[in-house]
Amino acid sequence: MNILILGRGKTGSLVAEVARERHHEVVVLCASDNPRASALTAKRLEEVDLVIDFTTPQAVVENIEACLRARKNMVVGTTGWYGELPKVRQMVEQSGTGFLYAANFSVGINLFFDVARTAAAALQHRYLGQIFERHHAQKKDAPSGTAAALQKIIKDASGTELEIISFREGDVVGMHEVVLNSPNDTIYLCHDAKSRRGFAQGAVRAAEWLSGKKGFFDFKDMWREM
Ligand SMILES: NC(=O)c1ccc[n+]([C@@H]2O[C@H](COP(=O)([O-])OP(=O)(O)OC[C@H]3O[C@@H](n4cnc5c(N)ncnc54)[C@H](OP(=O)(O)O)[C@@H]3O)[C@@H](O)[C@H]2O)c1
Repeated sequence: MNILILGRGKTGSLVAEVARERHHEVVVLCASDNPRASALTAKRLEEVDLVIDFTTPQAVVENIEACLRARKNMVVGTTGWYGELPKVRQMVEQSGTGFLYAANFSVGINLFFDVARTAAAALQHRYLGQIFERHHAQKKDAPSGTAAALQKIIKDASGTELEIISFREGDVVGMHEVVLNSPNDTIYLCHDAKSRRGFAQGAVRAAEWLSGKKGFFDFKDMWREM
């Protein structure tokens, strides 16, 4: 595929590397190449099969709107914009394109979500819980999109909304913990990302899966097929 990657930061650069390893043609744009989504015209996107976005919460919605106007399929890894999800979903359905997003493209964290969903039963047995998340000091949004996803999964499974406590320190790639505490014992669940490569591999595999598809998808719709 001809893939256009938006964002030449820590994750976008790695997505480009993985996509090239998987024999895709790749072009990457950074903020100065694409102010207010100005590079994403129908003409500029003519030769592009799919766009992948790893930018910022401030830039991503304009990028999505421009790509949907040009009827381009899109994979979005950027977090911190999910208040706009209903509007984006409607735009995807109206434009007849394929769109896939995830707060976390690693297979490990998606397995961790399943474990947390199961462990949420503890909250119906008088356990009290908290979610802790740690990321590098430059991360722009808090709580992380992954922590918010964990919170929703646990709430849907148990009816209880856990507090999220965020730490920003050093160069931590991404650590998420769920701690469930009773007078008798404590359950600790922890996922600790060692590098961003798992995210990049998941995003590129999601792009391949989305090729030729229409509709609004979440990574959980496809990761088991990887
Ligand atoms: N879903 C997942 O699995 C996953 C995994 C990791 C990160 N993320 C999310 O992905 C996003 C990026 O993370 P990161 O760690 O890579 O951040 P980062 O290192 O700060 O990179 C962000 C990049 O976006 C670029 N940018 C900003 N506006 C742009 C625009 N209009 N067009 C093109 N590029 C633009 C910036 O360009 P300049 O350098 O020129 O300013 C920068 O290179 C964050 O929201 C993060 O939470 C998601």
